[in-house]
Amino acid sequence: MPLEDLMWVEKYRPTSLAELVDQSTIKQRLEALIQKKQQLPHLLFAGPPGSGKTTTAMIVAMQILGDYWRDYTLSLNASDERGLEMVRDKIKTFARYSDRREGVPFRLIILDEADEMAPLAQPALRRIMEETAAYTRFILIANYSSGIIEAIQSRCAIFRFQRLDEASVTEHLKAIARKEKLKHVGDSVFAAIYEATQGDLRQAINLMQAASASGEMTTESVKTVTGATVKARVSDILSTAIGGDFDAARTKMIELTRVYGIPERDFLKFANEALGSLDVPDMAEAISILAEYDFRLVQGSQPELQLTAMLAQLSSLKRKGD
Ligand SMILES: Nc1ncnc2c1ncn2[C@@H]1O[C@H](COP(=O)(O)OP(=O)(O)OP(=O)(O)O)[C@@H](O)[C@H]1O
Ligand SMILES: [Mg+2]
Repeated sequence: MPLEDLMWVEKYRPTSLAELVDQSTIKQRLEALIQKKQQLPHLLFAGPPGSGKTTTAMIVAMQILGDYWRDYTLSLNASDERGLEMVRDKIKTFARYSDRREGVPFRLIILDEADEMAPLAQPALRRIMEETAAYTRFILIANYSSGIIEAIQSRCAIFRFQRLDEASVTEHLKAIARKEKLKHVGDSVFAAIYEATQGDLRQAINLMQAASASGEMTTESVKTVTGATVKARVSDILSTAIGGDFDAARTKMIELTRVYGIPERDFLKFANEALGSLDVPDMAEAISILAEYDFRLVQGSQPELQLTAMLAQLSSLKRKGD
């Protein structure tokens, strides 16, 4: 069986805007842009994991470039290429071919994880975008638009993807469950999947597939697959930090937010809930630390950095208490 069929996230990856779940404003704006494809601006897709950014970029490529989209699209990952040099070389080589095919107005460069590029390296990217503007368009993808320098942002039409809401995720999961002929999946199972994945549709689909592999689908099988519920994980991270082991707490936090795609603000919400049942040297201080970082996240500071700083502060409570 080809990989695309083995993995439900691939098997059910939308190939048209109409199939995309949620993100209705984005769909409308893109439909309009695709009508006038000659005038397509550079695009910047920003938003949380598993919300459809890469999928949408592929759909735009298909819609604009037609059957030959793969030949005229270069997909790069800004974080796993060895440095900007490589990215630059690849883009330059690719962009140089200005050959025209009927109905193919330009080449597309999809640059994933663009916010992982060092700010100092980004002006060079901006120059490449300008130099090749006659025959290329860029789709930049990022978790946070704030990681992209202003000079690039202002040259792009920005699309902000949202975490998917529970109703949309549940509806999509139910459709997949029907096609995969899963039996007797109760509403509580979908609720458990959503609680564990918080609007990350990729993770929700993966979780349902993993849980279904063990036979009957129950909230228990969902929980077993996630190892523990997200809340339990957050509680564990907090008690690790409060126990004074900053490094371990940080590693677990990064795993939870990156691999499982838990949004940072939810991390704080669960952390607040968990605090009550933990043995904390200075509870008042711990709560005010949480509140401070909650505030910073709302202000839009770099979330991973903020959570790391928070864990550092929590782990220093122990040293003070000793
Ligand atoms: N809005 C959506 N509608 C339908 N399916 C979606 C949507 N978002 C995500 N998916 C499903 O999740 C999978 C992953 O989505 P995608 O790769 O587009 O996410 P992403 O936003 O690029 O995430 P990341 O930031 O982690 O790269 C898709 O293959 C698809 O099955
Ligand atoms: Mg992606």
